[in-house]
Amino acid sequence: MLVSPSLLAADFSNLGKDIEIINNSEADMLHLDVMDGVFVPNISFGFPVMEAVAEVCTKPLDVHLMIVEPEKWISQVRDLGADIMNIHQETCTHLYSTVCHIREAGMKAGVTLCPATPVSVLEDIITELDMVLLMSVEPGFGGQKFIPHTLEKVRRLRELIDKTGSKALIEIDGGVNQKTGSELAHAGADILVAGSYVFKAPSPAEAIATLKSY
Ligand code: DX5
Ligand code: ZN
Repeated sequence: MLVSPSLLAADFSNLGKDIEIINNSEADMLHLDVMDGVFVPNISFGFPVMEAVAEVCTKPLDVHLMIVEPEKWISQVRDLGADIMNIHQETCTHLYSTVCHIREAGMKAGVTLCPATPVSVLEDIITELDMVLLMSVEPGFGGQKFIPHTLEKVRRLRELIDKTGSKALIEIDGGVNQKTGSELAHAGADILVAGSYVFKAPSPAEAIATLKSY
């Protein structure tokens, strides 16, 4: 299993310390949640903070944009050195061309779906995607309860990917812990995002290692 700890649950008064923990852990990447107070009812952090994080983080950056008009920010996200740019299907009118532009900029393109958005909306572009990020909570806040229906969505997405020969990885975000992580692994997930489970643990490195073992 690949693991992408979410910085949203880190200690914002001491980000350097928490990034060092991630650098020294088995984490495969670092998940950065950008919120605009429009698409989601919360505001997290923006480019100045992410630039500082990128300076010290040695893991690939997995950027999750919970913002309207994500297509406006492709070059800024690329300039951060991001590996993956995830945009929400619900915020993007011309999803196909935005995905193409993200890939032309040299990043992996991920499309994120809210809990109420069916996997079927991706049928016609699944072969163009590097990643599908399924939200297992409503986007906007950490520490929410996992929505069990996500397991069925993972199975449906796995079927679509296998049927079409798409190379897209399945990433899950929200309420991931020891129990739901194991269930998601069995359902066919490739990458687990975890905020609270990692950063509120007595040992974040051990929490990451537990998810990695699935
Ligand atoms: C929520 C964010 C998540 C969040 C997950 O909108 O996209 O990445 O940090 O937090 P936990 O793991 O605490 O549910
Ligand atoms: Zn996220």
